[in-house]
Amino acid sequence: MVYPRRVNSSTPLATQQPDSSSACSNPYETERILREYLLFHYGTAQEVVGYLFAPVDALEYPVRCVTQCVDVSKLGPNSRALDLGCAVGRSSFELARWCGEVIGIDYSAAFISAAESVRVSGVLEYQCSVEGELTKSLKAVCPEAVDPQRVRFEQGDAMALRGGLGKFDVVLMANLIDRLREPQKCLASLSALVSPGGQLVITSPYTWMEEYTPRENWLGGRLQGGMPLQTLDGLRGCLEGDFELVDSRDLPFLIREHARKFQWSVAQGTRWIRRG
Ligand SMILES: C[S@@+](CC[C@H](N)C(=O)[O-])C[C@H]1O[C@@H](n2cnc3c(N)ncnc32)[C@H](O)[C@@H]1O
Repeated sequence: MVYPRRVNSSTPLATQQPDSSSACSNPYETERILREYLLFHYGTAQEVVGYLFAPVDALEYPVRCVTQCVDVSKLGPNSRALDLGCAVGRSSFELARWCGEVIGIDYSAAFISAAESVRVSGVLEYQCSVEGELTKSLKAVCPEAVDPQRVRFEQGDAMALRGGLGKFDVVLMANLIDRLREPQKCLASLSALVSPGGQLVITSPYTWMEEYTPRENWLGGRLQGGMPLQTLDGLRGCLEGDFELVDSRDLPFLIREHARKFQWSVAQGTRWIRRG
């Protein structure tokens, strides 16, 4: 993996165009994926999929990762949240409805720049793909009734987080683990980040690919000693010393590529409580 260039996250997106060349080694720095994620996080139902027969229960995934997976009754104005692999930031804003402080961290400079634009300006204009080279102009709007001052976005590596982050009442890792080179390294750092009694939410469709994660580091989806290893068992192996698994659910989600092509996936969302 090649580190993306570090950018000033307050620079407007218009002057911070991500690399759209095929030579770019990180897909999350490309303009195409940035547009897809802005739509995935901020698009209305009509903007994402206008068909009457659409699987509407797969919409608003970054919102549902919070509303369906986090026990928000345990949070309050003094609570701190960490959104690891926050992409363009929607779940971070949703966490800010329940927590006084939210830090969103992502490896992609382009994603963090876009998230920061939504936070600071309240709105970011972008193009969504219609077909071929045809696009439509849309706006990513900071969700209503969220105080953007509670949220801070920064570029960082989930496998080598900076010091001084402190402890959190909730850590969310949505669709991140199967995009890490060494997911075990990230998981091993979590007991120091989550307060005793705090929540860790991991959602993922477990799409293991050697392009992102060397096979020997896959948490599941492979044979181990000739026996099938599923990712939930791999997660248990990494986490069960310090965390107790308290909830598991299926979360459908829909990513629009263009007006007539979508990725429909089902993540597994698990909630773990840090042992005290
Ligand atoms: C599949 S996307 C999911 C994003 C978001 N959580 C969501 O559910 O829409 C994976 C995200 O992880 C980020 N990512 C990949 N490797 C990372 C790393 N080492 N540290 C932090 N973020 C990383 C990518 O830039 C991308 O935003």
